[in-house]
Amino acid sequence: PKKAILSAAGASAKGESSGGPAADPGAFTILSEKKLFLGQKLTVLQGDIVNVVADAIIHPTNASLYMGGEVGQTIERTGGKEFQQEVKDLLSTNGDLDTAGALLCRGYNFPAKFVIHCNGPRWKDVDSQQLLEQTVKNCLSLADEKQLKSLAFPSIGSGRAGFPKQTAAQIILRAINNYFVTVVSSSLKQIYFVLYDMESIGVYTSELAKLDS
Ligand code: APR
Repeated sequence: PKKAILSAAGASAKGESSGGPAADPGAFTILSEKKLFLGQKLTVLQGDIVNVVADAIIHPTNASLYMGGEVGQTIERTGGKEFQQEVKDLLSTNGDLDTAGALLCRGYNFPAKFVIHCNGPRWKDVDSQQLLEQTVKNCLSLADEKQLKSLAFPSIGSGRAGFPKQTAAQIILRAINNYFVTVVSSSLKQIYFVLYDMESIGVYTSELAKLDS
């Protein structure tokens, strides 16, 4: 397994030559990286998820696609009127999003082509840990269904939803690893974890290093 720690401030995360466009997230500092046995790269970045160049970014929300979570507020503001309308239309076509469910819509005014909205649990919910794992799996299956190559995850659960950051990181990384162990093939080549606060950065970097691959 490969692990690159680039600590130089402002270092730009340039994809490797074999990765193509999906491996270049834009100008981000890569904090650490690991390759899974099927070849998928898991990469920890620091920065704002609205700036990531990826096929889709993940928006943790609730059944009615509420955009009041921390990531939700940022993508709502950056996506502007077109994005807000897209989300409204999605809700009226689809109805409420199932618990742990995931839904895709187009992105606007930020580099990601799509947004995957997921109805993740709150820490105090019954079975919250299992539900978080299921939420991550549903995001990955939906991405595969849509033939996406790269996905950017925030630390789902650890903002407004109240999970301890380390618990959320462990569950999310395990869910991703398990997903790629169980699927026969996947269109996904690159998963970014886009982290915003110092605690998440420390936790994801150490949890990624511990992950068997
Ligand atoms: N880019 C990347 N990560 C960010 C950004 C950003 N711009 N802003 C905040 N974060 C981080 C937070 O530090 C937190 O660790 O994203 C993580 C997730 O925070 P939230 O978006 O609040 O997600 P979550 O905790 O899952 O809460 C979602 O909010 O939509 C409501 O009630 C709904 O239960 C749902 C909850």
